[in-house]
Amino acid sequence: MKIAGTGSALPTKQVTNDDLSKFLDTSDEWIFPRTGIKSRHVISDENLEDLAVEAVNKALEMASVAACDIDFFICSNVVNEYITPGLGCVIASKAGLACPSIDINCGCPGFVYGMDIIDKYFRSGTVKNVLLVAAEEPSRMTAWTDRSTCVLFGDGAAAAVFTEGGNYLASKLSARPDPDPLYQYHLMEPTPYVTKEEYSLPLQMKGREVFKFAITACLDDIKTVLDKAGKKVEDIDYFLIHQANQRIVDSIRGHLGVEEAKFPTNIIDHGNSSSASCLILLDECNRKGMFKRGDLLLFSGFGAGLLSGSALLEW
Ligand code: COA
Repeated sequence: MKIAGTGSALPTKQVTNDDLSKFLDTSDEWIFPRTGIKSRHVISDENLEDLAVEAVNKALEMASVAACDIDFFICSNVVNEYITPGLGCVIASKAGLACPSIDINCGCPGFVYGMDIIDKYFRSGTVKNVLLVAAEEPSRMTAWTDRSTCVLFGDGAAAAVFTEGGNYLASKLSARPDPDPLYQYHLMEPTPYVTKEEYSLPLQMKGREVFKFAITACLDDIKTVLDKAGKKVEDIDYFLIHQANQRIVDSIRGHLGVEEAKFPTNIIDHGNSSSASCLILLDECNRKGMFKRGDLLLFSGFGAGLLSGSALLEW
């Protein structure tokens, strides 16, 4: 497969670090040096599915593929207002798609997981045009009184259209199964039979543990992908790393010994928009005309689960 088109859409409201410091005991002086974030887009009046549809339409237009010609669709999402149907069905109904869709909840590396599933579909010879959407609203997961989590995240949606081609060169999905470092509970509907105590909790995160996991897992995955593809670090033109924290990205870049220009970032005005991060970054770089045919792009994501994954794609 190959990527034939990308698109993204962001909420209009931008919340700066100074805005946050008006109601939280925090400051730009704390947030920016520790995370690289200055502001983030946060959903106010928009609906997540409408942002996703905007991203889909842009990606379809770039790929010159009609919505009715998409024959499979994966939606990567952690939280949205529907419990059923999957957000993919909601997006499909508004975007005029008529194909089966699957929702995946793989957290931040969802983009890489989605791409890897799509690759398997292409290899089975059953699809010609496939859509991947990552639509995320982590601002609805964090407690806005918890300065250690809410300052890190931003909302957004992005999409990519995949068509036939031999450009997906290698991938590695990994897991260190353990929900404890990063999880959220929501309250289920009560029944007459449940006797155990149930409660809801906003996003809980052990920041330092996640930080260390992110760097170790990302470096392991990248090394495996390079080995599988018979490539070296210096062969890669761009590393598109999940935008969780500028210091995580810088540390990975430092370990690999790669110059800054090969590690584009947009965290400064987006924050971490979970699985949408990498795909929004891809679309922004693509629309700036950064990539040329034959460039090697290495994607990597990590997050709740704890899950991680990397993939190598030729542009
Ligand atoms: N403003 C001001 N102070 C803050 C703060 C904020 N927004 N957030 C935390 N602090 C305080 C803490 O309360 C703590 O104070 P204390 O020493 O008095 O207890 C102090 O800063 C240090 O907190 P700590 O959590 O140890 O900071 P850190 O250097 O580990 O940085 C993160 C915190 C969250 C930025 C960092 O751990 C991180 O980025 N982790 C990865 C998170 C991530 O990417 N998650 C998603 C993965 S997909």
